[in-house]
Amino acid sequence: MKFSGILAIATTLVSLASAAPATKFKDVTTPFYLVTTTQSTSNSHSSKLKNVSATTVFAPYYQPNLLLREIEPGYGSLPTWTLTNGTLHTTQAGPHGIGSYVYNSTSVQAGGELQFLAQSEPNSGFALKSGYLLTINGTEKGWTLCTGDLGQTVVSARDLVNGLSDTNVFFLQVYYKGTDASCTPTYIQAVSTPPY
Ligand SMILES: *[C@@H]1O[C@H](CO)[C@@H](O)[C@H](O)[C@H]1NC(C)=O
Ligand SMILES: *[C@@H]1O[C@H](CO)[C@@H](O)[C@H](O)[C@H]1NC(C)=O
Ligand SMILES: *[C@@H]1O[C@H](CO)[C@@H](O)[C@H](O)[C@H]1NC(C)=O
Ligand SMILES: *[C@@H]1O[C@H](CO)[C@@H](O)[C@H](O)[C@H]1NC(C)=O
Repeated sequence: MKFSGILAIATTLVSLASAAPATKFKDVTTPFYLVTTTQSTSNSHSSKLKNVSATTVFAPYYQPNLLLREIEPGYGSLPTWTLTNGTLHTTQAGPHGIGSYVYNSTSVQAGGELQFLAQSEPNSGFALKSGYLLTINGTEKGWTLCTGDLGQTVVSARDLVNGLSDTNVFFLQVYYKGTDASCTPTYIQAVSTPPY
């Protein structure tokens, strides 16, 4: 009797846990921008978020996977996002600017880059907690900003084309639980207007 009672409770807990990602967070189909910030609370003026930075996608070697990095004021345009079924989506040009594809977030690994591929991807646990805080499996902690192993080479490969020097320019890239000494923790927020 007692034993079956315990089993019933255990079964209930398991089904609650597996149901959680689907029931707790809603799909967001109104396009939003992604920013990095050290603040976990929202602000209707994204420019007032602490240490806020706009983000953009990039493919320094014209490789198929897009990565996410900070971008300073002066950009031409920023990617917008939607989030359905545990996956982030953004519409971008394909390699070498050819075509237009819906890029989807891939499942994140500790120490790995946040990446997007122009192919369908399974639910990998992305959600917007309280409608704005980017989470994986329900937690907003774990995002990091790192100089990344591409470092200066990235700038040489791409920004030199735009006439930028490769000596003084570097930017921070989003990793999940990045372990490099350069990495600092960040939150990622969905905002309706860019901070700058
Ligand atoms: C946030 O901004 C403040 C003020 O500019 C700066 O001192 C601090 O180092 C920044 N923190 C991070 C984690 O970037
Ligand atoms: C990305 O995922 C969306 C939604 O599942 C899908 O409609 C789209 O076709 C996918 N992108 C590609 C290039 O397959
Ligand atoms: C949502 O993700 C689940 C799990 O990966 C998948 O089986 C399902 O087909 C997806 N639904 C849609 C509408 O993409
Ligand atoms: C999120 O949960 C899924 C399902 O349990 C697991 O496969 C995945 O590794 C988790 N992701 C992270 C980043 O912990």
